[in-house]
Amino acid sequence: MKRLLSIVGARPQFMKAAALWRAAGGVGAVDLRLLHTGQHYDREMSEVFFDELQLPRPDYQLHVGSATHAMQTARMLEGIEEVLLRDRFDGVIVYGDTNSTLAGALAAAKLQIPVYHVEAGLRSNNMAMPEEQNRIVADHLSSLCFAPTQTAVENLQHEGLSLKTRLSGDVMYDNSLYYASLATEKNNVLDRLGLIPGEYVLATVHRDFNTDNPDRLNSIMQALSEIARNARVILPLHPRTAQRLSSLHASLSTLSILPPASFFDMIELERHAQVVLTDSGGVQKEAFFYGVSTVILRPETEWVEIVEQDAGILADADPQRIIDAYHRLSGHRVTFPSLFGDGHAAEYILREILDFVD
Ligand code: UD1
Repeated sequence: MKRLLSIVGARPQFMKAAALWRAAGGVGAVDLRLLHTGQHYDREMSEVFFDELQLPRPDYQLHVGSATHAMQTARMLEGIEEVLLRDRFDGVIVYGDTNSTLAGALAAAKLQIPVYHVEAGLRSNNMAMPEEQNRIVADHLSSLCFAPTQTAVENLQHEGLSLKTRLSGDVMYDNSLYYASLATEKNNVLDRLGLIPGEYVLATVHRDFNTDNPDRLNSIMQALSEIARNARVILPLHPRTAQRLSSLHASLSTLSILPPASFFDMIELERHAQVVLTDSGGVQKEAFFYGVSTVILRPETEWVEIVEQDAGILADADPQRIIDAYHRLSGHRVTFPSLFGDGHAAEYILREILDFVD
């Protein structure tokens, strides 16, 4: 029986870890444990997902909370190292590109414990993003890099990492297939909010370069208010965005502002939206899986496939570009080709890890 530690900390990682958790039940011969760094800690940012995703409570909780990047990462490094020194693991699995990913990869690699990176090889080629810094380091420290797309494979090849790269498909696509019917069955968010399918817009803004730059945040909110003349705009807010909005000039009275959405609420809101406007990678992709197009509130994206398929437009934080992109995409359904695997990425990843460990 091989013992693996799955390290999570931020909202999107709970979802990715849940895919591996389900797969572990079918693959056998693996004792998968869970460590939560505590990077996200509000109930709506953390616990809610454990409930909906049917994830077990973490075996290890670090409660690091919010801090500067270095301080937060340092607290995680100390806590993760302590766990890895105390209990023996055959490998550590990290997900995506957050500070929890970086800390997990670094702590394990320093102890010569193999690291497996799920959602490897994504690049924005914008080194100012903390996520870009985190994923590059994690990829280079990993024993196996699980790339969700062919583009990600090519990015890893360019960095000389071909030998340890595996094209796995995307565990988020596994999830979109698995949870779609469950979300509909167990959820009535559209009724609760009085929404008609196809007649509202879903928006999310959480990236630091948007929230922490008042000009960009103002411009985005202006564009959303303009769009709200045509369709209801639903805006579930990340706690940091909520803090920043309080000091903004733009009027927000025409927007439907909500607390952070649960996973099932989000799936339902994404699936039935006329258009999604977002700076989140995960939300862009989920919308795409459900045939909904996206105005991307960033200058670039790691998920270039979405733009190449005409299912997304890069509009940055420019109000006119955002509004034009919204008009071009509204009501435009997408039939997406299978670029993200066959829905069994998590099983493949676990099997590859177990082979590697042997
Ligand atoms: C992190 C990831 C980002 C990911 C996002 C998903 C990094 C560098 N970034 O960004 O890649 O897309 O998670 O949501 O790891 N806060 C709360 N309660 C919480 C969590 C955060 O109030 O439960 C507030 C705090 O003010 C905190 C701020 O949000 O300082 C930022 O949180 P943090 O986890 O540092 O980064 P995210 O922006 O969430």
